[in-house]
Amino acid sequence: MLTRDENCPAHNGRAGPAQRIASRPTPGTAPGAAVDRDEAVEFLELFHAENPHVGPLQPRIDEVMWEIDATGSYWHTTEELAFGARAAWRNNARCIGRLYWRSLQVRDLRKVSDAEGVAGHCFAHLQAAHNGGRIRPLISVFAPETPSRPAPRIWSEQLIRYAGYEQPGGRVLGDPRYRDFTETMLRHGWQPPEPRGAFDVLPLVVETAEEGARMFPVPGPAVHEVPLEHPDLAWFADLGLRWHAVPVISNNRLVIGGVSYPCAPFNGWYMGTEIGARNLGDRDRYDLVPEVARRMGLDTSDEATLWRDQALVELNRAVLHSFRANEVTITDHHTESRRFLTHLEREEETGRSCPADWSWIVPPMSGSQTPVFHRYYDDEGRTPNFFSDDDAVGRALRGGPPAFTAP
Ligand code: ARG
Repeated sequence: MLTRDENCPAHNGRAGPAQRIASRPTPGTAPGAAVDRDEAVEFLELFHAENPHVGPLQPRIDEVMWEIDATGSYWHTTEELAFGARAAWRNNARCIGRLYWRSLQVRDLRKVSDAEGVAGHCFAHLQAAHNGGRIRPLISVFAPETPSRPAPRIWSEQLIRYAGYEQPGGRVLGDPRYRDFTETMLRHGWQPPEPRGAFDVLPLVVETAEEGARMFPVPGPAVHEVPLEHPDLAWFADLGLRWHAVPVISNNRLVIGGVSYPCAPFNGWYMGTEIGARNLGDRDRYDLVPEVARRMGLDTSDEATLWRDQALVELNRAVLHSFRANEVTITDHHTESRRFLTHLEREEETGRSCPADWSWIVPPMSGSQTPVFHRYYDDEGRTPNFFSDDDAVGRALRGGPPAFTAP
């Protein structure tokens, strides 16, 4: 679970050229490149150390080295893949929800590499992850990057994202984060619902080297949403707000033992502040704090009345209350902070340190009221892990440019 979205100012847009030159190349295969043998060996050692029942290490290393010599890559066993995906979650320094990393369910879809197949399985993923409201952490792993064949890519940042339509005068109807993406989809013939609304689900975009980029409308039954209401403020429901139940991040690259899986959408469940404090609260997102404050009758003439803080709390209460009322799994930032420290202790007990990035772990409201605020963390990068590549981030926000030259 990532507590901040890619919008976090501390982590987005800062990777200027200077930083890129200075940083080491990210692990995992690039299109057309062979797997790094050291990365493969390091992973196999980890896998065998933590899973002694799978048998001796050396024969497996020999086999993998032979396969890399012959093909430039290697095929993970089902168990290696499942462990690798779970370890990638465990290693992800931005996620506060890692206590349950062992429970991640893995859909092995490595044989699927065509756009339609990817899209169809993504829609099935949404259903399986939603699970009638009892959200299951789930990852679908599609075809890997290999020297002979580039992996498919999903352009969309998540399987479900809301369109942002630029209005005359520069205001945006919907999610301003996806204004450019929406604009690109419209230019390429996407038919938005009539009339347009603030929560129109964008089409999923899947690109393959053979087919180029293709748009797939997300079918209704795959879109589970929660209408937002407030436990005490009756007018809140009139705002007509809602949010989708399952956050499935779809543009990160999973790297296991030197092999890249750029198409491996995964989900946990929401922490309320992701929606209430960031998606609905950020000024460059739905920016609802002033409207909520006005309806609450707060004195907005002076920052020192802390009207923003008061309104933000009510917005967040509405999110937690509505998910609960609809029996959709959600967690609050106090509970999740405590769980994270439990996770950290457990990791230390097993002799592992737990990489964590303070600026992502600390919740975006009431930070000092949560225990995760009052300490520092180890933040060394580890693999397996999920990587957010600059070009993939660009495609998710702008709807291009394509990863592959036109077929
Ligand atoms: N912050 C993102 C959003 O609001 C979701 C990131 C993943 N979150 C999670 N709980 N697994 O949509």
